[in-house]
Amino acid sequence: MSIDQLTIRRPDDWHVHFRDDTMLAAVVPHTARQFARAIVMPNLVPPVTTIAAANAYRERIVAALPADSDFAPLMTCYLTDTADPNEIARGYDEGVFAAVKFYPAGATTNSDSGVSDVKNVYGTLERMQEIGMPLLVHGEVTDPSVDIFDREAIYIENVLTPLISDFPELKIVFEHVTTKNAVDFVRARWAETPGRLGATVTAHHLVINRTDIFKGGIRPHLYCLPIAKRETHRLALRDAATSGEAAFFLGTDTAPHGRSAKETACGCAGIFTAPSALETYTQVFDEEGALDKLEPFASLNGPTFYGLAANTGTVTLERSPSSFPEAVTTSDGEVIQVFGGGEQMSWRLA
Ligand code: NCD
Ligand code: ZN
Repeated sequence: MSIDQLTIRRPDDWHVHFRDDTMLAAVVPHTARQFARAIVMPNLVPPVTTIAAANAYRERIVAALPADSDFAPLMTCYLTDTADPNEIARGYDEGVFAAVKFYPAGATTNSDSGVSDVKNVYGTLERMQEIGMPLLVHGEVTDPSVDIFDREAIYIENVLTPLISDFPELKIVFEHVTTKNAVDFVRARWAETPGRLGATVTAHHLVINRTDIFKGGIRPHLYCLPIAKRETHRLALRDAATSGEAAFFLGTDTAPHGRSAKETACGCAGIFTAPSALETYTQVFDEEGALDKLEPFASLNGPTFYGLAANTGTVTLERSPSSFPEAVTTSDGEVIQVFGGGEQMSWRLA
């Protein structure tokens, strides 16, 4: 029997890039249309590392919201080698920082100020473990000699496993997982000690594999980090996301870049999924015969992991042909390609 309408608690997005200035203004309404809250990545230039910077950034986001929106940005602190544990703990205590983001230096877009050696931030991690503050990790090693398709799997062995053994009580989110290795690792860890290691799964990693990036030619708008992996991994991600298991929750990693930065000799990593995200996830859950698991994945597992209440309102998705514009244009003329834009989708948010 096929369901034509689905009402779930209002969902949240546990991983977004909003950028700043005119791009911020152009992208924020798309996330706010679908989600009640979002974890906002701090990889601006310069990165968000202080309470003052996070408060100011939050105000700029709120100023970009449509007048009737009650969307709430949840701010994060960018971890650097010289992070101040007191500032971070105070930010958490005051409700300014929801979490800390750990980019290995040089792993991805705007990560130059990231951590060069985990040992440099052990004091901060100690403190976070004590106060129950979540650490969000970009799970890829940066050693240029490691094959780009292996960087997540090697990260699990070389970085995450030792980190967990040194900080067994620390709450960690393995962001945007792309491999079966990560899915298996998170499941095993959850079985041992539930609630310590969770994972976000993006919409695009449920849809594309690495072959799609080269379908008929090179497709820069499907390039992101971590890069999409082979089909077996995509299937493992679909299995994890649609399982309803508490360890896995929605995080789009929507990462807008203008066309000029994507369609060039050395294009930026990042896929802009915000406009079409919830519809894309819904379509995947429908294809997997798991529409009943969309609510835990999108609306319940994330808040539970973060120790927050689920949202009170609901949203309704309808089986009805819809499509999204191919691109969003900023007020100064930058064109941002939308994931799935121009294609026919089978669900729409009522
Ligand atoms: C992100 C960005 O553009 O900020 N890019 C990406 O490919 N996901 C950074 C990140 O989350 O890795
Ligand atoms: Zn990201």
